[in-house]
Amino acid sequence: MSWFCDVELGPPIEVFALTKQCTEDTFEQKVNLGVGAYRTNEGKPWVLPVVRAAEKALANDETLNKEYLPVLGIDAFSSAATRMLLGEESPALVENRAFGVQTLSGTGALRVGAEFLARNLGKTVFYYSSPTWENHKLVFKNGGFLEGREYRYWSEKTRGLDIDGFLEDLRNAPEGAVIILHACAHNPTGCDPTEEQWRQIAEVVKERKLFPFFDSAYQGFASGDLIKDAATVRYFVQQGFELFCAQSFAKNFGLYNERVGNLTVVLNNAELVAPVKSQITLVIRGMYSNPPSHGARIVSYVLSNPDLYNQWRDNIRTMSSRIIEMRKKLREALEVLGTPGDWTHITNQIGMFSYTGLNEIQSLHMVKKHHVYMLRSGRISMCGLTPSNVDYVAKAIYETLTT
Ligand code: LMR
Repeated sequence: MSWFCDVELGPPIEVFALTKQCTEDTFEQKVNLGVGAYRTNEGKPWVLPVVRAAEKALANDETLNKEYLPVLGIDAFSSAATRMLLGEESPALVENRAFGVQTLSGTGALRVGAEFLARNLGKTVFYYSSPTWENHKLVFKNGGFLEGREYRYWSEKTRGLDIDGFLEDLRNAPEGAVIILHACAHNPTGCDPTEEQWRQIAEVVKERKLFPFFDSAYQGFASGDLIKDAATVRYFVQQGFELFCAQSFAKNFGLYNERVGNLTVVLNNAELVAPVKSQITLVIRGMYSNPPSHGARIVSYVLSNPDLYNQWRDNIRTMSSRIIEMRKKLREALEVLGTPGDWTHITNQIGMFSYTGLNEIQSLHMVKKHHVYMLRSGRISMCGLTPSNVDYVAKAIYETLTT
């Protein structure tokens, strides 16, 4: 007899199980389009040169030590991250009613934010796009939310945004519900609302008194332009919303395993900052006490050093333009082969991922027959495509759709 007899086997985490399966596969032409992690033209992971430079400088700085950080992390980091998101001139910053909290990547920011909202504001219902990043649901449930509901987002038919369904579902949401919105480069579809559609979304969020919680995992990485990728969050702030935004530095700094992120909090009154900060402090203290320093020091060092900052922006552009190039190449190869269907969505989509439109059976066939590892939903990570494997992947898609 054990205390643990009734523990059921949990389901695998699809994206990581797929990586393991691919690593163990001995087929020479295998392609990993599963996990969202940048690869070079040679298909290798990339430590950004600017990160190497910052690490060298930090390693030689003997004034730095390994003492505990404050519960809310390094102030210079969270202020720099918040300014990067909102813009120096943001009314929320000028009026001292916005602040940042260092977190364990974007996931940690979502988790801390969710727990604060459930615990301190009594929030129980959250909405997520259909589809969304699979972890949103687990994070919000673990954060104390009782009910997750979908809002329509992706239209199979148009392989684009279902804006009417999206707006209708928001209109039917109960007052006060928390709405998870992807700041840019929607994961998994790569399909974002247009500026005009964001205006419509903001109107409904305001009218229905919903609480926007942005997930910003790709600022700069998506388009190569830090301002463009933050435009939606900035628009909501200009519209006077109070909001949360989870920022990740995994993709735009390539710091996947350093777990460096920031929870940006925008309030409508500077006097609320101290009480809200004090309650977030208690949430973190009771969860992991205080964050690690390495990744936050790198980001903070780069963001505060004009020379390195410019190098970083070059590094970001290298990544985003390679992905844009791969989108063009994949679409071209599919069209040259005469692959059934319209492939314009591949180049219309933005960021790390593409929703190919392949269904579950077809996606599983891609894995099994062609050793092209992709999620069952039909999502591929564009980063796994290289000039040497893009034709192979296109042929695999062609075969899958024609046999
Ligand atoms: C992804 O969506 O592939 C990445 O964000 C990795 C993850 O944690 O799911």
